[in-house]
Amino acid sequence: MDKQIKAVILAAGKGTRMKSNTPKVLHKIFEKPLLGYVLDNVKNIVNEAFVIVGHHAEEVTAYVENNYVAAKTVLQSPQLGTGHAVSMVCPALENFDGQVIILCGDTPLIKEETLNNFVEYHNSNNSDLTVMSTIFENPTNYGRIIREADNSLKCIVEEKDATQEQKAVKEVNAGIYCLNWSKIKPAFSQLTSNNAQGEYYLTDIISWGKKNGLNVNAYILENSDEIYGINSRHNLAEAAKIMNDRKLYSLMENGVTIVDPSSTWISEDTEIGADTIVYPATYIEGKNKIGQNCKIGPCAHLRGGVEVADNCKIGNFVEVKKAKIDHNTNVGHLSYIGDSELGANVNIGAGTITANYNPLTKVKSKTVLKDDVKIGSNTVLVAPVTINEGANVGAGSVITKEVPSWALALTRTPLKILADWVKSQSK
Ligand code: UD1
Ligand code: CA
Repeated sequence: MDKQIKAVILAAGKGTRMKSNTPKVLHKIFEKPLLGYVLDNVKNIVNEAFVIVGHHAEEVTAYVENNYVAAKTVLQSPQLGTGHAVSMVCPALENFDGQVIILCGDTPLIKEETLNNFVEYHNSNNSDLTVMSTIFENPTNYGRIIREADNSLKCIVEEKDATQEQKAVKEVNAGIYCLNWSKIKPAFSQLTSNNAQGEYYLTDIISWGKKNGLNVNAYILENSDEIYGINSRHNLAEAAKIMNDRKLYSLMENGVTIVDPSSTWISEDTEIGADTIVYPATYIEGKNKIGQNCKIGPCAHLRGGVEVADNCKIGNFVEVKKAKIDHNTNVGHLSYIGDSELGANVNIGAGTITANYNPLTKVKSKTVLKDDVKIGSNTVLVAPVTINEGANVGAGSVITKEVPSWALALTRTPLKILADWVKSQSK
């Protein structure tokens, strides 16, 4: 399917204010880099995405290559501004005649639905260039949208170049654009850097478009949270909170009980069925699917790749990673379940550990528990290992080989009782 629409994602900047050795766009919310959110949000809209890399280019490129095979990276070196960054795709898009959406890699809260509306607005207005704007009560640091007396767009002025009067404008540039590529492309060889920062500003394509008689419009976004940009650690924490609140709200709308939203963290990529109850201090990151009527927490940690069927319990201080758990199964307390498959009606006693990782070989192995297995408390299941249907494991066991169906496995040393031993010790 050729939608003739491409994305350019700017991710070459330094991110000085993060004070970090990690490139800004690889800072994470719920273990997913900021850039990942942007790439995921455009992947159903565009048929090709270009990521502009520069600062820490190798790390950012490796992330894109390992996680988004369909995306391409383009090097910008040195980094001379956002306009210069976009011009890096000119050779690759030399003969392209469709649309280009430009986004920033540090703006992870934008929704796919909003981007769709934005492109639709661009098309229905026969726009050549559309910029997304929003109203901020505190517009500091954002580019200001400057309009003509008749309210049509004039230009965008950056904070550092703005007059007092312009600084008072609350309509800001969201940093998201839709362009009819072949019409706007010539602008990139005509941008200049005579401004306060000595950079080639992408924002100057607005006044360029106006001067060249093109149809230039602004799409005003109502929910300004979506274009919240990450420039500091404070912004990162705030964005995580916005993302989490959004997720908890939609889960509650769909019938999930969240006992204490203020202490519960659930990633965007987690699905939870109706009538499941999530107890306080639960942290769920990565991609997971939890069924209906489950009880999760308090203080549970799901680390991604977790699938839980209906009527299950993942209780207090239980950590689960990459595991498939069938219905009516309970992991009640103080356990670690990793790289595992648990059947239906399984009961895991308190303090059970799947020993899935060999730190010498760095190999992770799988634990398989078939239906109706019961594991006694304080058991270590040393993977790879399978416990077959209905088998029981006695408390305190260390299981290192396959247990047949309906058997009891036990590695406990026999209990010794020495009668009156205590008395015999005293003088
Ligand atoms: C930019 C806009 C501003 C807008 C704001 C929205 C310009 C000149 N200004 O400002 O109007 O309100 O975004 O968040 O565009 N980047 C590169 N190469 C470069 C420079 C930057 O790839 O040479 C990337 C950065 O990594 C970042 C994005 O472009 O992802 C935006 O750069 P940043 O420095 O954060 O721009 P702002 O000052 O926020
Ligand atoms: Ca920014």
